[in-house]
Amino acid sequence: MKEKLLARAILPIYRSTRGQATLSGLTSSSEEYEAARPYSQIPSPRGYPIIGNMLEFTNKENVKNFTEYHGGMKKNLGNIYKFKMPGPDILFICDPEDARKLLSQDGAVPFSNVFEPFELMRKGPLKDLVSEVGLMGQGEDWSKFRQAVQQDLMRPASALFYIDELSDVMDEVIAKFEERLNAKREISGLQSIMNEFALEAVGIMFIGTKLGVLQGTEEGQRMIKSAQRVFELFIMLLAIPQIILPYTSVWKESVEHSRIMAKIVIKNVSAAIEKDKQDGSLAGTVLEKLIAKCGKDSDVPVIMSMDALGAGIETTGNQGTLLLYHLAANPEKQEKLSQEIREIIGSGGKMTAETLSQMRYLKACMTESQRIAPVATGTARKTKVDMVLGGYQIPKNTLVMRHGALNSVDPKYFHNPDQFIPERWIRGSAEYNKVDAFANLPFGHGPRACIGQRFARMELYMLAFKTIQKYKLEYHGSPIKIDYTGLGHADRDVNIKFIQR
Ligand code: HEM
Repeated sequence: MKEKLLARAILPIYRSTRGQATLSGLTSSSEEYEAARPYSQIPSPRGYPIIGNMLEFTNKENVKNFTEYHGGMKKNLGNIYKFKMPGPDILFICDPEDARKLLSQDGAVPFSNVFEPFELMRKGPLKDLVSEVGLMGQGEDWSKFRQAVQQDLMRPASALFYIDELSDVMDEVIAKFEERLNAKREISGLQSIMNEFALEAVGIMFIGTKLGVLQGTEEGQRMIKSAQRVFELFIMLLAIPQIILPYTSVWKESVEHSRIMAKIVIKNVSAAIEKDKQDGSLAGTVLEKLIAKCGKDSDVPVIMSMDALGAGIETTGNQGTLLLYHLAANPEKQEKLSQEIREIIGSGGKMTAETLSQMRYLKACMTESQRIAPVATGTARKTKVDMVLGGYQIPKNTLVMRHGALNSVDPKYFHNPDQFIPERWIRGSAEYNKVDAFANLPFGHGPRACIGQRFARMELYMLAFKTIQKYKLEYHGSPIKIDYTGLGHADRDVNIKFIQR
């Protein structure tokens, strides 16, 4: 009953989110379940006693070359396979049809197992700083929190509110590009500038403050370093059984970095709230709306800011580097974007909500870049009911990982999958690709989909717009690959040439 009420509250909101895949109420009937092959028959690579496939799952090279490695598994074992682990098995699914089935049987309160270690941290060693588990929680804790923040974050106007401030942050980024350009007009360390951009952007949106990291503040650098380290350790947090996790060095280091991040957020949110009392500087911001909705004494706004800064730096920063790379490496497509900018905004104009709404090619470039190089490899869930996937019985409480990064470059779903073709997202174009939405879900799906997606898109649109308005980008190196250590990122420094237009 409680789930039904929550479904009524949350489902209409996520259904209205642009670009979401639709579900047709797919569920496995008990006859289908009985007729399916037993779970025990799902193929698995040969493993060791007790630890099973843990060494393969956490092997640095396998993690780094995630798509090649799991592409090989798919070839050898099929569209569904499991890794035996010291704790529960991890099931991998490669067929978008199975992703559709998995996510349609998720209910209003999906269980995202990847956040479990962070929930443990907040309930344990970070309890003195964080009174609620926020979006890292599960069940009712998660659901109540998500309901409190959902509308303010997912409505289109929430990210558009920051369009001018993001434009100003991009001016600082461009100043930094200029400062870093060498005699060949190339920049070394583009990735770190993109992370600084993402932190400044998420900072103004969620903590009402610029941390000044583009200007070199130490606090901002600490925040980026800690967020990066937590993502790097993440695979071990998932692999080590929870019962021994608190005694491991991986856990201790993750807690230490999470504590650093939490303290910086608390300090800055508190300062922003104090300042607002004097000058009303939070007017119209997400933070102000959350304070108004949840009350002055609520911890929801601070914890939401913590989740946003934890999840919103490297994701958008890495995706931003890859977007600039794709534009630089595809001069014809870049030229089409430049032409769209000239036609709709001009060579010196500013982006507005109205002009952005007309920029179909800009949006298509971003979607295409994310298709080829998604920074998140997929979606993780713990199944809420017994279901059939890939013809096998999958009992309730199984950990399942959807291989999004394999689907979005599979020729079965995308023609010439390795080529950057923004036109495939533009209706009416000869190359328009009618896509199975479950083959490309870079922000996840459903009630637990990325709550920062509107902000991330807005940041990436602003990044590509301002950069291409000012520069012609060139890339002359060998193709960049994605390294999935931590979050997906370019496998080396991306040496782009920035030529003034
Ligand atoms: C290109 C940038 C980004 C990508 C690719 C991305 C991707 C994702 C994905 C795949 C998920 C899991 C969805 C699922 O399980 O269905 C997620 C969750 C989440 N993301 Fe993002 N994200 C990005 C940027 C951001 C930003 C800027 C924020 C800041 C608010 C953010 C905050 C979150 C949070 C808090 C969650 C957990 C939501 C929940 O479980 O309720 N993300 N993101």
